[in-house]
Amino acid sequence: MRKIKVGIVGCGNISSIYLKNLSEMFDNLEVAACADLVREKSAAKAEEFRVPKVCTTEELLADPDIGIVLNLTIPKAHSSVCLAALEAGKHVYVEKPLAITREDGERILDTARTKGLLVGCAPDTFLGGGIQTCRKLIDDGWIGEPVAANAFMMGHGHESWHPDPEFYYKEGGGPMFDMGPYYLTALVNLMGPIRRVTGSARISFPERTITSQPKKGTRITVDVPTHIAGVMDFVNGAVGTIITSFDVWGAKLPFIEIHGTKASLSVPNPNTFGGPVEIKTAGSREWSQVPLSHGYTENSRGLGVYDMANAILHGSRPRASGELAFHVLEVMHGFHDASSDGRHYMMKSTCERPEAMPF
Ligand SMILES: NC(=O)c1ccc[n+]([C@@H]2O[C@H](COP(=O)([O-])OP(=O)(O)OC[C@H]3O[C@@H](n4cnc5c(N)ncnc54)[C@H](O)[C@@H]3O)[C@@H](O)[C@H]2O)c1
Repeated sequence: MRKIKVGIVGCGNISSIYLKNLSEMFDNLEVAACADLVREKSAAKAEEFRVPKVCTTEELLADPDIGIVLNLTIPKAHSSVCLAALEAGKHVYVEKPLAITREDGERILDTARTKGLLVGCAPDTFLGGGIQTCRKLIDDGWIGEPVAANAFMMGHGHESWHPDPEFYYKEGGGPMFDMGPYYLTALVNLMGPIRRVTGSARISFPERTITSQPKKGTRITVDVPTHIAGVMDFVNGAVGTIITSFDVWGAKLPFIEIHGTKASLSVPNPNTFGGPVEIKTAGSREWSQVPLSHGYTENSRGLGVYDMANAILHGSRPRASGELAFHVLEVMHGFHDASSDGRHYMMKSTCERPEAMPF
């Protein structure tokens, strides 16, 4: 098996699971270098995961052996690092969201197209066994025609556990840009693209205090909405509802449900790869658990990078693609725009449903 060498830019919190999985789980990838603004961070990860090279981002981009840049920086650095990687002739896979603004997202896709390079973007949880099982049930006609979907991600934010949580409350953060990609990517994978959205958004707590170490006691000024309720009209005619919130102390709501003319489907947490998947068919009294039809049910972060490497090696299309991520980015902005403008936001982008996983 030919391996593509990966250079990781951004060696913070999320990098460990990528470093672990890229070396242990996927046979077409090899992490060749680590870079971070803070050299100690990249050096520590390189030592822990036996990566041979620690360098600056510029040195990493100049390394001719590196084929894919894995961009795990914070959202406000996503577009500059992606663009620099593409300009250096590298394929790029970036953590979500693709970019903060639609303009930057477009610039990334345009640059990749011009250069003949691929852009991939997290999340890749929708490639896991849980959501792929739901996809198969829908594609095989078990729920009939989809008529509605609902999705909920409600909690009180990340300042109680994340070591450096400010970015969640700055431009590009908030619950929609942070967690929306999991829910919306899953929904587009299951239901197809969205044609218009509307929504309402607010900031309920203008200031937050960090309770995690090492920044305990530090105050954060909240710059972005932290409670967003949105409505989506899918191209297939179904109507979706989503709430993402960092403003609630508790909720007893499902992650995602898809309702069809013949059955309702309970979709597992889209921030995980596994189940459970449940279905309630017309006339039945109870929900029934469905055995998972697909693999990758454990934490398989990096599966999207593996799939993109296969696309590079075999000329196929990456499933966790830049086009899908851009559509999701536009939907998220659409909710915020609709709230401030007081009217529906008409989507300009579209995308194809990514191909189902083979197994
Ligand atoms: N933490 C999680 O549980 C989690 C889960 C899923 C996705 N993500 C996503 O992963 C990304 C990173 O999150 P994190 O929690 O690891 O953040 P983090 O702050 O722990 O790590 C980010 C790292 O990127 C480095 N960095 C920032 N700008 C850079 C630049 N221009 N060049 C090089 N290095 C740079 C920082 O020094 C830091 O080490 C975010 O997009 C986030 O949305 C995080």
